[in-house]
Amino acid sequence: MSDSANTKRATAAAESRFAANPLRNAQDRRLPRIAGPSGLVIFGVTGDLSRKKLMPAVYDLANRGLLPPGFSLVGFARRDWEHEDFAEVVHDSVKQYSRTPFREEVWRQLAEGMRFVPGVFDDDNAFVTLRSTVEQLDKERGTSGNFAFYLSVPPKFFPTVVRQLKKHGLSDGPGDSWRRAVIEKPFGHNLRTAQELNQIVHEVFPPNEVFRIDHYLGKETVQNILALRFANTMFEPIWNRSYVDHVQITMAEDIGIGGRAGYYDGIGSARDVIQNHLLQLLALTAMEEPSSFDADALVTEKLKVLNAVRLPDDLGRHTVRGQYAAGWQGGERVVGYLEEEGIDPASVTDTYAAIKLEVDNRRWAGVPFYLRTGKRLGRRVTEIAVVFQRAPYSPFDATETQELGHNALVIRVQPDEGITVRFGSKVPGTQMEIRDVTMDFAYGESFTESSPEAYERLLLDVLLGDANLFPRHQEVERSWEILDPIEEYWASHGKPAPYASGTWGPTEADEMLARDGRSWRRP
Ligand code: BG6
Repeated sequence: MSDSANTKRATAAAESRFAANPLRNAQDRRLPRIAGPSGLVIFGVTGDLSRKKLMPAVYDLANRGLLPPGFSLVGFARRDWEHEDFAEVVHDSVKQYSRTPFREEVWRQLAEGMRFVPGVFDDDNAFVTLRSTVEQLDKERGTSGNFAFYLSVPPKFFPTVVRQLKKHGLSDGPGDSWRRAVIEKPFGHNLRTAQELNQIVHEVFPPNEVFRIDHYLGKETVQNILALRFANTMFEPIWNRSYVDHVQITMAEDIGIGGRAGYYDGIGSARDVIQNHLLQLLALTAMEEPSSFDADALVTEKLKVLNAVRLPDDLGRHTVRGQYAAGWQGGERVVGYLEEEGIDPASVTDTYAAIKLEVDNRRWAGVPFYLRTGKRLGRRVTEIAVVFQRAPYSPFDATETQELGHNALVIRVQPDEGITVRFGSKVPGTQMEIRDVTMDFAYGESFTESSPEAYERLLLDVLLGDANLFPRHQEVERSWEILDPIEEYWASHGKPAPYASGTWGPTEADEMLARDGRSWRRP
């Protein structure tokens, strides 16, 4: 092959790597990622997620010029609405929740492509109407047959909706157009139900057209874990069992369950958050460097780590679940979980969970990963703390270093997004005294641009067919396989431990770490 052919090939390869790289794509203005002709159908359009996240995200994308001019949004729900009523609902949600300023001309263009289809999921007539609506939009707005179907509905309805899409010829578009299914969590209740759902979905949509949402992967700071680890030289050499003592992954919320009793009771914090968000954070923190940043390579590495995750032998000693009792939050008296509206007063659902996991591979053998999450905790914070071992030998007197803790690198996912490094420093003065100090990187100070909302990023990726930030079915199933034995153990061992709202969870969680000679960070 000639030199110039070689150069062309190398350039094409580099360009395709560039286009597939989520880190670059998020920032780069030379290659704006704009969706081609397409539309979005949302099932469950009257729900909270749709109102607070999906509709505002669609508007924000339009406002940023990332949607095609003929973009169309179809709502499907059991409501006696006309198209105009639906547009008004979207308008209110955009006004209330959008990240970017409201612009009349953007709104008008978007609103022209809004349609509403009333109906229930097993109503054939409603799907006939949906099909003709989609075909009409192709003609009127040039959506070219490309539609994504967003299932923002309880999992028990997934099979019906997916099968109705198939039955009414909506899962296959005309010619070379695409049809995609976007599925919200919870994806199943355990391994068995997740496998059943996967089977049903794959009977209708090919795997590369199924997008399972884990909105944590859409967060800038979560994508930054990859940048931190693999775009720099200084972290990877110490990112292993020779230097790391343990890792703590925390997702704490100050809110209670709000109006979500129907969804939450019987599911609980571990199924709601550990099975998906926290195990994904663990995978990104612990995985090996992927050969590229395309979806296949990322999944391969994440799956290798998830497959290496091992549960402790004694689940009684190394897992804790809790349930919030009444207490004080933000200066206000708040009720306990069992007093929340719609909750069975005898419910044993966990609102707090802490578990210890090991990762059985050469890099991490013997390094515990502690995961915890809870509602009504001290404050809202999500962080990954990589806690390092102490220096193997200290030339200082014990009194000089008594205030020195472990070095730590903390990735703050939210709020106050950034990275903090904690290390020992000499206290100014004539004596040698060493104390912990922190070095901070804050997104807000280093970048002027505000981060897009996770759902903006993920919706755009769906329309572009970019699967990098979506867990595959193997990951989802493996994550259930990790969690199932814990849930089974809990189901046959008493009740969750109560903790007062506004505190950092049950004392049993502190005892769990104390047994290992460690303690939880107070973020
Ligand atoms: C969702 C959970 O996946 O994540 C909720 O179902 C939780 O219970 C929410 O409140 C938290 O998301 P974020 O982006 O606010 O951290």
